[in-house]
Amino acid sequence: MRIVRTVAELRDALRRARAGTIGFVPTMGALHEGHLSLVRAARAEHDIVVLSIFVNPTQFGEAADLAAYPRTEERDLELAATAGVDIVFAPDAAEMYPAGFATTVSIAGPIAHTLEGAERGRAHFDGVATVVTKLLLAAMPDTAYFGAKDAQQVVVVRRLVADLNVPVRIAVVETARDEDGLALSSRNARLSADDRRRALALSRALREMTDAAADGASDSAALRTLGLGVLAEAGVTPEYLEIVDPGTLAAVASLDGPALVVIAARVGETRLIDNTLITPGGSR
Ligand code: PAJ
Repeated sequence: MRIVRTVAELRDALRRARAGTIGFVPTMGALHEGHLSLVRAARAEHDIVVLSIFVNPTQFGEAADLAAYPRTEERDLELAATAGVDIVFAPDAAEMYPAGFATTVSIAGPIAHTLEGAERGRAHFDGVATVVTKLLLAAMPDTAYFGAKDAQQVVVVRRLVADLNVPVRIAVVETARDEDGLALSSRNARLSADDRRRALALSRALREMTDAAADGASDSAALRTLGLGVLAEAGVTPEYLEIVDPGTLAAVASLDGPALVVIAARVGETRLIDNTLITPGGSR
């Protein structure tokens, strides 16, 4: 496995690999099984697998959140090598945002301004869109892999790739969970034992809503009440719990096809998100 820290080095390393196909997994490090499931998907489909590790400052609202973000590069490199990554691109902030940097890829409308965009601030998805655009242009992969865990991020990335004609396929990998249902996240490490137990209410709420929809419930208000009840029982107050259209993220009043349930909640000091697709009368 090779480690490169500049765009020029990355392009040079990939020039020789272009005869084959390239799969790309962008991350902010602190790798866990969720990230590795993206790597495995890329490994299965491509000759060369590139993983980036860059804690992107422009997508963090609070400086404290950025400072507290876990950085575990040595361990990440071991995990990446074991998972079969060929090239790790680990630039520093000056490489990605040199002096004079002035361009932002800005996503307009509800796909960027609702839910996470409303809670984390409008700049969040502009930060994500800008860095993802830069990373895709640096690696020019055939396929880039994203996790369903960040459902709104997937909608934003699909939008920017379509709007800017970026020649890349976007692949989405389902959310990796611990055995008890908690969606894996780099932030889980910050949960106390008690908070971790309470955090299970997010996946439990999603499961109960999935089951109720499978049993025929289709009224969003009733489904929301059910999910909010599960959270309340655990003492978790969500920032949002919404049932939305998977493509537009607009709220849906009644299920007449697959809908996305999205939840964000602070458990202790830790902000968690989770989501699932629910289908009326569909599978559990
Ligand atoms: P990060 O939070 O490190 O996540 C990197 C990728 O791993 C994202 O596509 C995310 O959805 C995916 N992922 C995280 N947890 C997962 C889980 N439990 N199951 C499946 N996939 C999971 O998302 C980012 O970084 C950044 O916004 C980035 C796209 C790198 C831009 O800075």
